[in-house]
Amino acid sequence: MSAEEQVKLKDFGNIFSLEGKVAVVTGGSRGLGLHAASGLLQAGCSKVYITSRKAQACDEAVAALNALPNKRPGAEAISVPADSAKMEELDRLAAEISKTTDHVDILFANAGATWGEKFDTHPESAFSKVMDLNVKSVFYTIQKLAPLLTAKATAEDPSRVIITASVAGIGIGTIGQNATPSYSVSKAAAIHLAKNLAVELGPRHILTNAIAPGFYPSKMASGLIELKGGFKELEQYSPNLRLGRPEDVAGLVVFLSSRASGHINGAVITTDGGAVHKGRL
Ligand SMILES: NC(=O)c1ccc[n+]([C@@H]2O[C@H](COP(=O)([O-])OP(=O)(O)OC[C@H]3O[C@@H](n4cnc5c(N)ncnc54)[C@H](OP(=O)(O)O)[C@@H]3O)[C@@H](O)[C@H]2O)c1
Repeated sequence: MSAEEQVKLKDFGNIFSLEGKVAVVTGGSRGLGLHAASGLLQAGCSKVYITSRKAQACDEAVAALNALPNKRPGAEAISVPADSAKMEELDRLAAEISKTTDHVDILFANAGATWGEKFDTHPESAFSKVMDLNVKSVFYTIQKLAPLLTAKATAEDPSRVIITASVAGIGIGTIGQNATPSYSVSKAAAIHLAKNLAVELGPRHILTNAIAPGFYPSKMASGLIELKGGFKELEQYSPNLRLGRPEDVAGLVVFLSSRASGHINGAVITTDGGAVHKGRL
């Protein structure tokens, strides 16, 4: 092949474009999910379904997304409140989404929960709740949406599942007074789930990957950030001297949804400024 032929890349200027794609974001009403939803819409998605338990929070998120000045004409965010922890709610979620689309291109399986309490008194109910939402519900969200995800997917243009894990699923999470054992092992399981599903669903033209964020200020993380010495202290600990920002997670989710990541399947991508390599999370 000549050098002239080798430098030709197919429509490279649009390699990150999500023009006309349909996305579903669980835990999309705030935090990482809402940042990602904003990125998906601004990258060209035509429909972004926002789901979480609280209807009002979903509606407010959707109103903010629909007011974005640079989304494509006709593009819309749609509120579909549902509790990802309940099987019947996941069935209803899939049925509701099916009323307004015949397929889904991108699923950001992001809803999650945590619990902090020391080893000796760590409650069984909290352990179960965290494992259920962060692992089992992720699996069944993907299972219930699989018919929509496969409806238009092809080997050339596969659908995407992106699972929100955590660096706490790579290293160990918090120990001591506010220990998060269930969170840490649930996120390790979420990473392994992405690898399993990459192999299971790859032949059905669905690529599955996990992201592993470090600390991003959010409702869930802010308490733990304070307990660990505060925002400034954690910024100094991070090799790149900062914590996660909305654009960081939005950019990563857009990348993993785009043609640019078309050969990535079963990967886990950290977004933590390198903090995981210093050993303390
Ligand atoms: N922020 C971080 O530093 C960080 C780091 C690593 C990983 N993560 C992960 O990132 C994901 C998002 O966390 P976040 O930091 O953005 O937290 P957040 O701001 O507290 O958002 C959590 C989202 O999940 C929804 N949710 C909770 N339980 C749900 C359920 N049973 N069914 C459906 N939706 C539910 C919440 O809405 P409702 O309350 O309305 O249900 C909300 O939209 C989680 O998986 C978390 O483990 C976060």
